[in-house]
Amino acid sequence: MDLANIAARLVADEKGLLAIDESNGTCNRRFADIGIEQTEESRRRWRELIVTTPEIGKSISGMILYDETMHQATAGGIPFGQVLVNAGILVGIKVDTGVKPLAGFPGDSITEGLDGLRLRLQDYAAIGASFAKWRAVFSAGDSMPSTACIAANAHALARYAALCQEAGLVPIVEPELLMEGDHDMETCGRLSRSILEAVFAQLSANKVLLEGMILKPNMVLPGTACREQPTVGQVADATLKCLLRAVPAAVPGIAFLSGGQSPELACARLNDMNAPFRSRMPWPLAFSYARAIQQPALALWAGQEDNIGLAQASLLHRARCNHAARRGEYDPSTDSPR
Ligand code: G3H
Repeated sequence: MDLANIAARLVADEKGLLAIDESNGTCNRRFADIGIEQTEESRRRWRELIVTTPEIGKSISGMILYDETMHQATAGGIPFGQVLVNAGILVGIKVDTGVKPLAGFPGDSITEGLDGLRLRLQDYAAIGASFAKWRAVFSAGDSMPSTACIAANAHALARYAALCQEAGLVPIVEPELLMEGDHDMETCGRLSRSILEAVFAQLSANKVLLEGMILKPNMVLPGTACREQPTVGQVADATLKCLLRAVPAAVPGIAFLSGGQSPELACARLNDMNAPFRSRMPWPLAFSYARAIQQPALALWAGQEDNIGLAQASLLHRARCNHAARRGEYDPSTDSPR
């Protein structure tokens, strides 16, 4: 399959992506919060529960794995990547190696992982990956993100994307402006637009084929500590306005991250952007959620074998809600916190 076909498949049929690519540290922190043992075997059991959820492929087009998961298998010995391929789900892999402080700019970050990336991408492609993910992180604050931080991360995202395409993998390009802070929604919109403009300038300078990538942005939201919290419709309006100004129409799809929004809000806001009364957007608006799909299921599972069925039902429910939101058919009144 060529790049444009893979990218089109990732956002086809109103499906979206499920990110299960938490690093071991992040996964362990989420386990610790609810008292699950933090071992390689616990992480394997949790990922087995997810990838074997019956019927999840009807709502999920691709799953993003972490390196450890990519090399793990079910208790019966079937590699997770193979389980996904058998279910008609494309296999993705997180290839950045993490977020570090940006020297000289306190509070700003830079994502690392370019060294040796060409070979790692070839290895992942050989074991079944069709697409990859790299996340750049920006904080809103006094003089943040700095121009240097935006430029460095945009350049790294573009170099990663070019290397992915060379290896035949579709790059998911993820610039995330974090929700933490007391900034208002207008500030988030202004900063998100500057970041996206810098990213697309670098993608173009590095000859990245726009038709062969997916953008994974944040929605335009006020900081979690901001006093004024907008309606679902205001978030949808502000997000679409920002994207229309900064994202070329040649991009085949936009798949939002959830960023710490509740599962219900992430779904309702996506739904509003896809509501039938809106004029058509140049790109499909999809989802690539981790917490907003996994979190209720993780709490239900709590590491117990007996809870696998309940947790899988919850995952499937959230995947179906977001699938409905892509059609503008999500009904919050029939949703439940689990
Ligand atoms: O890189 C972040 C994940 O892929 C998306 O996670 O939906 O919990 O923000 P999130």
